[in-house]
Amino acid sequence: MNIALVGYGKMGKLLEEKALERGHRITVVIEPFAPQGTNTAVSGAPICKTLAEAGEGALEKADAAIEFTRPDTAPDNIKALAGEKIPAVVGTTGWLARLDEASAAVNAAGSSMIWASNFSLGVNLFYHIAAYAAKIADPFPEYDVGGWEVHHNKKADSPSGTAKTLVERVLANMSRKTQVLWDALDRAPPADAIHFPSLRVGAVPGVHSLFFDSPADTIEITHTARSREGFAAGALRAAEWLVNCPGPGQPAGKARLGVYTIDDLMAELLG
Ligand SMILES: NC(=O)c1ccc[n+]([C@@H]2O[C@H](COP(=O)([O-])OP(=O)(O)OC[C@H]3O[C@@H](n4cnc5c(N)ncnc54)[C@H](O)[C@@H]3O)[C@@H](O)[C@H]2O)c1
Repeated sequence: MNIALVGYGKMGKLLEEKALERGHRITVVIEPFAPQGTNTAVSGAPICKTLAEAGEGALEKADAAIEFTRPDTAPDNIKALAGEKIPAVVGTTGWLARLDEASAAVNAAGSSMIWASNFSLGVNLFYHIAAYAAKIADPFPEYDVGGWEVHHNKKADSPSGTAKTLVERVLANMSRKTQVLWDALDRAPPADAIHFPSLRVGAVPGVHSLFFDSPADTIEITHTARSREGFAAGALRAAEWLVNCPGPGQPAGKARLGVYTIDDLMAELLG
């Protein structure tokens, strides 16, 4: 299938490498801040500064666009892609306050989008495992629940989006836990709270750990990311799913219409 990359930063470059490995083609790259004089990407695709500049010529050859940019630009990129009827895979985080507006544009244009704060298959399996663990631990009040997350010291926000989703899934499956406490505490946490602090250190790509702890023992489940490859592999898989591409190196089919999340893809994969 043919892919347009919107954003040519750390994820954009990795997506290009992994897309080529999977036998796909990069038709155009959109990156406003490419170093001066750099007109082509590693794949040979032209680099344009904006979607408008890429316009019909380069863009219309794309079966899907993969967007990993910045929170302030993602919603406008989604709207522009919808206007061109290019199915969009959106990995950018921190823009969900404008999800309704972006989704309305996609639906009104009769286009399609799949978004996820975390495209890693492992993390999405971890959410399912955590939800199930919470459900079966719920009837056993001797098992308290808590967790923590660790990321590199360049990460600007905490808790991570992944931690927020993880805790949401646990809360949705436990009647005896009703709130989360993210911060350092100057008091003992109430019994209905999940305490889930963050640590920022070194170069850690991401660790999320959940504890079910009783006086007798601990059940601990942990997801440890080793690199960004899991995100790129998941985003490419989502692109193939969105446009009904049967697999690596295959042409795109007819795109699904409307707005999806990684949960829709996972539901299908998990049957
Ligand atoms: N969903 C996931 O699985 C997942 C995984 C990793 C990162 N992310 C998110 O993806 C985003 C990008 O991450 P990154 O590590 O590649 O960041 P990055 O800073 O390395 O790259 C972002 C790129 O987008 C470019 N950009 C800015 N405005 C643009 C615009 N209007 N059009 C096109 N490109 C534009 C920037 O110049 C930069 O090169 C972040 O929001 C990050 O949190 C999500």
